[in-house]
Amino acid sequence: MRVAVIGTGYVGLTTGVSLAFLGHQVTCVDVNESKINQLKSGILPFYEPLLKEILAVAQPNIAFSVSLPDAVQHADLVFLAVGTPANPDGSPHLGDFFSAAHQTIQSLRNKETPAVLVNKSTVPVGTSDQIQEWVEQSGLGLKVSVASNPEFLRQGRAVLDTLYPDRIVVGGDEPAVEALRQLYADIIGQRFAEPAGAPRPSHLHEVPFLAVDRRSAEISKYAANAFLAMKISFINEIANVCDRVGANVHHAAQIIGLDPRIGSSFLQAGIGYGGSCFPKDTRALQYIAETSGYDFKLLSAVIEVNNAQKFILLDKVRAELRHLRGKKIAVLGLSFKPQTDDMREAPSIPVIQGLLAEGAEVYAHDPIALDNARKLLPPSVHLESRLHDALEDAEAALLVTDWPEYLNLDPEYIRQIMRRPLWIDGRNALGPAVRSGIEYRGIGVDAAHFADPAQNKKETHYETEPQYLV
Ligand code: UDX
Repeated sequence: MRVAVIGTGYVGLTTGVSLAFLGHQVTCVDVNESKINQLKSGILPFYEPLLKEILAVAQPNIAFSVSLPDAVQHADLVFLAVGTPANPDGSPHLGDFFSAAHQTIQSLRNKETPAVLVNKSTVPVGTSDQIQEWVEQSGLGLKVSVASNPEFLRQGRAVLDTLYPDRIVVGGDEPAVEALRQLYADIIGQRFAEPAGAPRPSHLHEVPFLAVDRRSAEISKYAANAFLAMKISFINEIANVCDRVGANVHHAAQIIGLDPRIGSSFLQAGIGYGGSCFPKDTRALQYIAETSGYDFKLLSAVIEVNNAQKFILLDKVRAELRHLRGKKIAVLGLSFKPQTDDMREAPSIPVIQGLLAEGAEVYAHDPIALDNARKLLPPSVHLESRLHDALEDAEAALLVTDWPEYLNLDPEYIRQIMRRPLWIDGRNALGPAVRSGIEYRGIGVDAAHFADPAQNKKETHYETEPQYLV
């Protein structure tokens, strides 16, 4: 099928490249000309495993353009995958999205054959209905139908999640649903040769395809992200209690996770969630509920817990070192999670902000996010491309992102190069062999160091909203 994808962020580009990989004829469009020129020469605007490899295979089927009207003219399906960042009040900013939707409708006027306008951006419930209304007001109702097709891909696994999804959700009327069923037929039936490095999960033979109304499709995306965020905040609170009562959150998570009604994933306690989706989408759902007249108390608590959780590392390092002034502290990992260079809502930012506020000398390392981090952090932060330089003579290391290269260092090496081999593990990720060879503090895991209840009431209070330092 002929497809136009508007927006070349994680969702748009992964969708476009994957559809081209499956044999569809795809044009990816973006207003950013330099990004499009880079893509034309095979350079990706962000790091995402496997994307470059499948782009190489998909090359004959994909084009990149800055012209939305040209791309839309020839498309059976037009995907809107434009960013919807948060406004200060938590509502999603829809300016770019609406402008792309209007331009698309305008361009579809000149098209003779039918088309489906598919929304992949995360938007408030009712937005796709609103676009359908604009389509009808433009006199295109018989030719164009609008669908909501929410995206559940994770950064760092975007290609795998697109080719091997848990489900495909389509909200819309019959013609839109059938066009998308046809577009995704090879994914639904898993009838494509698996790309190198991306083996098909052994259990996967058929992907559930759910056809619903547009509003239900839209809320399902928010509900999925809010639920996963809730699991993380829940286990983080259990971890905080474990710290106070001398229990181990690993054991608690494993035990509750074996109950299929709970499930074992997303129960990794740590310093909370970040990234481009969970923080934004939980705030957006809170806003959507509020403006519909409903106070979503549980979701507000999820957000509040996550905002506070980032600062637990600071409480722990202060408890060990007393004061931080003039002390070298290594911060390990800057991106919001491993396998991405994305710094959006990364917990490393407020953690570093807190360390600097207390006078620490911050030496930070990340395998791939240093360039992006440099734009957000002040020059006083030493950004080290060699892990050794971050750790050397440091009085503590704060593990913020669980990149694999941090997890299996030789404890003897750590003891030799650090002034004090103290690791505060914000992801509970170090293995037992390393833990036992250094001074180790995790989150809700080290019963031997559980806090003195008299100290438990002391908590750090910083700005809870994400703050950029420059
Ligand atoms: C998420 C959703 O998983 C995806 O379905 C949606 O489309 C977009 O948002 P992503 O933001 O890429 O994807 O990352 P994810 O792997 O879900 O992790 C989100 C955050 O939660 C990360 O900061 C991660 O470190 C944290 N996390 C995750 C935990 O703290 N504990 C866990 O157990 C799992």
